Amino acid sequence: MTTSSKLLPVHKRFDITFSHGEGVYLFANGKKYLDFGAGIAVNALGHCHPKMVEALTNQAKKLWHVSNIYNVNELNKYAEDLTSKTFADYVFFCNSGAESIECVIKMIRRHFYVKNQPNKNRIITFTGAFHGRTIATISAAGKKKYIEGFEPRLDGFDNVEFGNIEAVRNAITDNTAGILIEPIQGEEGIKVCDKNFIHELRKLADENNLLLAFDEVQCGMGRTGYLFAYEYFGIKPDIVATAKAIAGGFPLGACLATKEAASGMTLGVHGTTYGGNPLAMSVAQAVLNEISKPLFFDNLRKNAEELKYELEKLKIEFPSLIDEIRGVGLMLGVKINSKIENAEIVKNLIENGLLTIPAGENVIRILPPLIINSQHIKEACDKIRKTLNEVKL
Ligand SMILES: Cc1ncc(COP(=O)(O)O)c(C=O)c1O
Repeated sequence: MTTSSKLLPVHKRFDITFSHGEGVYLFANGKKYLDFGAGIAVNALGHCHPKMVEALTNQAKKLWHVSNIYNVNELNKYAEDLTSKTFADYVFFCNSGAESIECVIKMIRRHFYVKNQPNKNRIITFTGAFHGRTIATISAAGKKKYIEGFEPRLDGFDNVEFGNIEAVRNAITDNTAGILIEPIQGEEGIKVCDKNFIHELRKLADENNLLLAFDEVQCGMGRTGYLFAYEYFGIKPDIVATAKAIAGGFPLGACLATKEAASGMTLGVHGTTYGGNPLAMSVAQAVLNEISKPLFFDNLRKNAEELKYELEKLKIEFPSLIDEIRGVGLMLGVKINSKIENAEIVKNLIENGLLTIPAGENVIRILPPLIINSQHIKEACDKIRKTLNEVKL
């Protein structure tokens, strides 16, 4: 079936309708597609992973939803488990990435409000970042493409050049409360922050009494080869927002924070109806159990290295079509030469049975499920090779 005319026409869709998925494959009209997009970094364990299906169906027979005015066992357990693997003392669950960023913004402002510094309420953000589609998150990211027609934008954000530490230093005033950064920019084309820059940011935040928040909605929950990208960068932020892969396809977002950063988030100042509901918690728990197994990340990093190596080989094979391979772990980007549009290649890859995701800077995002193996890597690279060989300029 083609796209319904009843849907608000805001999504650009490829003309393909999947019927089901299994592991790293999706199926449409009897044809098998290797999914190296994972629903834009969502399907961490691939499609219909048996442990997730078991968790969801067992929970569905027991309890779907109770209000957050009651204790929820699944919520308590998952909160303990998740935070125990991180820097965080607290976690707040919501339903999406944008909502987790909203929580970050509120937490930063409120932190200084309760310390009798209500004017310390501005947040430094970065060019090229994507933080979601709510008014606050498009205002935070500051990108014209997403704000156009939705003004007035929310005040309180100072957008500076990504990766420019002098720009950050110059933007800090007595009103600055925090820094919000997407350390590996996904939508913008897999742009990885320099490690030194992140270390400098941590230093600047400490010297100026600012909270440092990471948007790990796309790069978090295992994608970099570490549970969170901040481990790859080698620092501890004060707040982390995450979503997407956290429950592998069941809608869930989370805002993790230290006790100090969250000190303003007291009784009644924030809330949610669905956030942390038993269904979401059970599925998230199943995902966390799987990715916490011994050697999971060792294997992931080994496979990620192999995939990047094979992509680099393709770059050498097709120097006029591939400009660059970038990224960390299983968050990789293939920058396509400006002679041809990335979306065109993505479309041709679909024809050849490989799913990838277009991004900014003419990049094709390679975001496979975290469970891929050598055989999947070979299959993907063969399909990319075939597709690039078919390009007619
Ligand atoms: C880095 C980042 N932040 C925030 C969001 C918003 O997440 P959601 O679409 O779940 O609201 C996204 C979504 O792509 C993202 O990649």
